[in-house]
Amino acid sequence: MMWEYYNGKILFVTGGTGFIGTAVLYRTLTQASPEHIYVLCRGGFSKAKTKWSSMLPAPIANTLIQSHTMTILDGELGDTATMDLDDDTLQMLKRRVHIFIHAACSIELKNSLRELSYSIIAPTLCLAKYALKFPNLEKFVFISTAYVNAHLWKTSESSDVPVQERVYSLDRNSEDIYKSAPEIWREVQKDGTSHEFETHDFPWPYAYAKHLAERLVLHKASEKNALDKILIIRPSVVGPAEEFPYHGFTTSYSSPSTACAAAYALHPGRKIVLATRCENPDQDATIDEVPVDVVVDRLLLHTAVGTSGCVHAVSGEKRRLRLEDWWNAFKNERRLPWTVKPIWTNEDWHSSNLHHMARNFKIIGTSFAFSEDKTDQVAETLSSEELRHLKLFTDRSQPYHHSLIHRRHHIHHLAKEMVRKNKLPVPVCMAGLFCRKGKSPPHYQAQSEKLAV
Ligand SMILES: NC(=O)c1ccc[n+]([C@@H]2O[C@H](COP(=O)([O-])OP(=O)(O)OC[C@H]3O[C@@H](n4cnc5c(N)ncnc54)[C@H](OP(=O)(O)O)[C@@H]3O)[C@@H](O)[C@H]2O)c1
Repeated sequence: MMWEYYNGKILFVTGGTGFIGTAVLYRTLTQASPEHIYVLCRGGFSKAKTKWSSMLPAPIANTLIQSHTMTILDGELGDTATMDLDDDTLQMLKRRVHIFIHAACSIELKNSLRELSYSIIAPTLCLAKYALKFPNLEKFVFISTAYVNAHLWKTSESSDVPVQERVYSLDRNSEDIYKSAPEIWREVQKDGTSHEFETHDFPWPYAYAKHLAERLVLHKASEKNALDKILIIRPSVVGPAEEFPYHGFTTSYSSPSTACAAAYALHPGRKIVLATRCENPDQDATIDEVPVDVVVDRLLLHTAVGTSGCVHAVSGEKRRLRLEDWWNAFKNERRLPWTVKPIWTNEDWHSSNLHHMARNFKIIGTSFAFSEDKTDQVAETLSSEELRHLKLFTDRSQPYHHSLIHRRHHIHHLAKEMVRKNKLPVPVCMAGLFCRKGKSPPHYQAQSEKLAV
């Protein structure tokens, strides 16, 4: 059984209070018997406790909060590997840790490359350098994104772009995929940009920052002859859990489709302008949303079986959504009595004529066929009993709008935030009236009371 791999192991996890990190911790603690898990959290135990209590029903939150197997370390990522931890703690981690999972990140798609060089690239490189010195390290797992290769939309002629589980070189004249990374990184540090970033059309600086971070990590590992110790997990658009920690588990800010549903609900007109080059966008454009528990089980499975390199954590060609199905699901969540039709243009994905939802999310109107070969191959080696207990693939047996029902509370919450932030001509107190409210679980009420205090 793959869970036996984790027995007696020592893990270090960054981002353990985030959407994916929380599910990683819960799954590992409830399925395996690691010797210990150290979790980096800004604000230490009290912050982690508050976050988990607000995200999870009490019995599940308590599995994390009361665990004797877990220690929360109060620290923060930066451009050194110290994470604000004292030297003894750093030495202890170095001596003991077998598996290093780096899931912390700010998912600010709009941040500039210079900002992301501080929040994504520098911390990832520093942590990889640090982890590769651990004598017992078995795997450094970096959570990247499937959209590191979204620039391929602009260079491919196909309206369904195949993406393999590998690094794509940004230099057409070179087969070198990561040797140039340190030089490019120096350019980014000096100028806040790079020639390859300027000459490739990434949807957001965030996607390029992850592309460069992946290459820097691989380059560092190749220098140390340790490429087998690197696992890069690339989730697509992460959505609510299907099974664990519980069906419907999600957060307000880390599930992009939830934000799109809120923007749809608030739209006062009958049309939303979106960009595409697909001939029949409603049928041909796709959204690859993957449940958070599929991301987690792929991460933990590939770590256990010793996969290295890049692995997609996606719904993939067979289980992604047609744009039409994604869009139609939003209709159920909207209170305004008229529906909103997409109006397709062939303008650029950065065009200011697009609706702000499309300008932010950019990939609406595209289609990527993310390969899942590595997971298919490993799945073939597992017994049917093992497969039954793992959540490796998205379940599409239910219509997609069922998935939105569990997010009503979050859609409602985000609609209010959008009105406040974007100064939309709607009183904030009315914003919630634009979408169906749904029942908020008791732990959310507890959190809002805490915030009110
Ligand atoms: N969600 C998605 O749709 C999606 C899709 C593709 C890839 N990913 C990738 O998956 C990873 C995890 O994403 P997520 O959805 O779990 O994000 P999330 O819910 O926003 O969680 C981010 C986590 O990172 C921590 N963090 C952020 N900045 C930090 C810093 N400077 N120092 C220490 N901790 C810091 C946060 O800690 P606090 O609790 O202190 O804020 C939080 O625990 C990220 O690398 C993201 O790029 C996510």
